[in-house]
Amino acid sequence: MKRLFAVLLSCIFLLALSLPVFAQSRAKALVEAQCSKCHGIKKVTTASKTPAEWSVTLDRMIKKGAKIEAADKDAVLQYLNTLNK
Ligand code: HEC
Repeated sequence: MKRLFAVLLSCIFLLALSLPVFAQSRAKALVEAQCSKCHGIKKVTTASKTPAEWSVTLDRMIKKGAKIEAADKDAVLQYLNTLNK
C-alpha cells in the first residue's frame, strides 16, 4: 500500500514537472505556424524585446490576424520572452 502511494506520488510529481514543458512546446508550435504566415519566422526569432514590448507586439499581430487564442497568450508570451536572451 505504501509503495503504491509512493508510485502515485512520483507520477503526480513527474506530471507536474512536464506540464510547463508541454505548454512551451505548444507555444513554440503556435508561434512557428501563426507568426510565419505574413512575414518570415526570422522577424520573430531575431527580435529582442522586453516582456512589455512583446505583449504590445503580440496584441498588434493578433489584431492583424495571427490566430492565438486568449488561453494560449500567456504561454506564447513566455516563449517569445525566451528568444534572444
Ligand atoms: C496577418 C499578418 C501577420 C501575422 C499573422 C503576424 N504578423 Fe507580425 N507583422 C505583420 C506586419 C504587416 C508587420 C510590419 C508592420 C508592423 O510592425 O506593424 C509585422 C511586424 C512584426 C514584427 C516587427 C515589428 C516589431 O514590432 O518589432 C514582429 C516582431 C512581429 N511582427 C511578430 C509577430 C509575431 C510574434 C506573430 C505571431 C503571434 C506575428 N508577428 C504574426 C503581420 C503579421
